[in-house]
Amino acid sequence: MRLVEAGDVRLFPVGLGTWQFGSGEWGYGTTYAAEVAPRIVERSLDLGVDVIDTAEIYGFGRSERIVGGALARRRTEAFLATKLFPVLPVGPVVGWRARGSLRRLATDHVDLYQVHWPNPVVPQRPVADALGKLLDAGLARHVGVSNYPLQRWQELERELGRPVLSNQVRYSLVDRTPERELLGWAQANGRVIIAYSPLAQGLLSGRYGPDRRPTGLRARSSVFRPDSLAAAAPLLDVLREVAEAHRSTPAQVALAWLVRRPNVVVIPGASSVEQAEHNAASADIELSAAEDDALTAASDAYRDRPAPPGFVPARAEVVRRRLRRVLDGLRA
Ligand SMILES: NC(=O)c1ccc[n+]([C@@H]2O[C@H](COP(=O)([O-])OP(=O)(O)OC[C@H]3O[C@@H](n4cnc5c(N)ncnc54)[C@H](OP(=O)(O)O)[C@@H]3O)[C@@H](O)[C@H]2O)c1
Repeated sequence: MRLVEAGDVRLFPVGLGTWQFGSGEWGYGTTYAAEVAPRIVERSLDLGVDVIDTAEIYGFGRSERIVGGALARRRTEAFLATKLFPVLPVGPVVGWRARGSLRRLATDHVDLYQVHWPNPVVPQRPVADALGKLLDAGLARHVGVSNYPLQRWQELERELGRPVLSNQVRYSLVDRTPERELLGWAQANGRVIIAYSPLAQGLLSGRYGPDRRPTGLRARSSVFRPDSLAAAAPLLDVLREVAEAHRSTPAQVALAWLVRRPNVVVIPGASSVEQAEHNAASADIELSAAEDDALTAASDAYRDRPAPPGFVPARAEVVRRRLRRVLDGLRA
């Protein structure tokens, strides 16, 4: 197992995502928030996980409170990351929001303070100034971004005059967009890609199919549409086959495939302590080059599948596909 190294930071490649904690959208209920979630954090730390990722918006602060409570006696074992909800990511507002997060997390600093989304109307300079003040005050050891295109990540870094350590983006076998630009730049420059939804919100566990769809927020996700679930069957078959060879599970193999890529830390969420244990253990699965290739090919086939008859893609998807064609044309 290889740690992810970037500057003065050394991280276990499998972290823990905590959007599920205290958030109604996942439908895990109050016992989960009160009892299971704290045990997930503690067990993850026992197993060497250090990146614990939360955000002020998750459960409107509840996730941060649960994480803070669970870390009360073990704060130093975690590389604690939270995210700013960037309605007005400038000046004193950032300071207030960050201090609010620290209060809920019951700590005097976070290891990583991330801007959750780029704000299209706020220029980069004031955001960089506000982040720089947090670093100077010791409230954040590092800063990062999330859902940033490469150019904005680089611009923010230039304005800050210091590294913006990481970019937290959706990355899994069903969505490999970060491979276009972000991953190569991160690898070449000692930055970190923090992969969110690394299990495609549970799709890659193989538990779901056209006849067994999840409820809650996932019921509305395009990945869990019956036709998408049917199209994922060949990819899930390859995951099962590789998992069998390693006496592991499809979810573990999906994570192992990601952490095989240098500079990638995955932050899977978990609905049980057992899942968190499996996820941490996936860091020890050594995939062969042939297994990696087979998974990549199955992922390509899933991603390049034709749209089902009568399917009208969302406008953003149409724009994305056109853009991809233009970029592919330029590269050719
Ligand atoms: N920056 C952003 O904009 C952003 C956006 C989304 C997420 N995130 C972060 O990324 C984290 C992870 O993403 P995510 O929660 O969207 O998706 P995910 O990690 O891909 O999926 C999590 C779900 O997969 C299932 N699962 C987890 N481990 C499993 C295992 N070992 N075996 C079988 N099933 C397993 C569980 O659901 P079931 O058991 O119910 O199937 C769990 O709730 C979040 O918690 C959050 O911290 C960030």
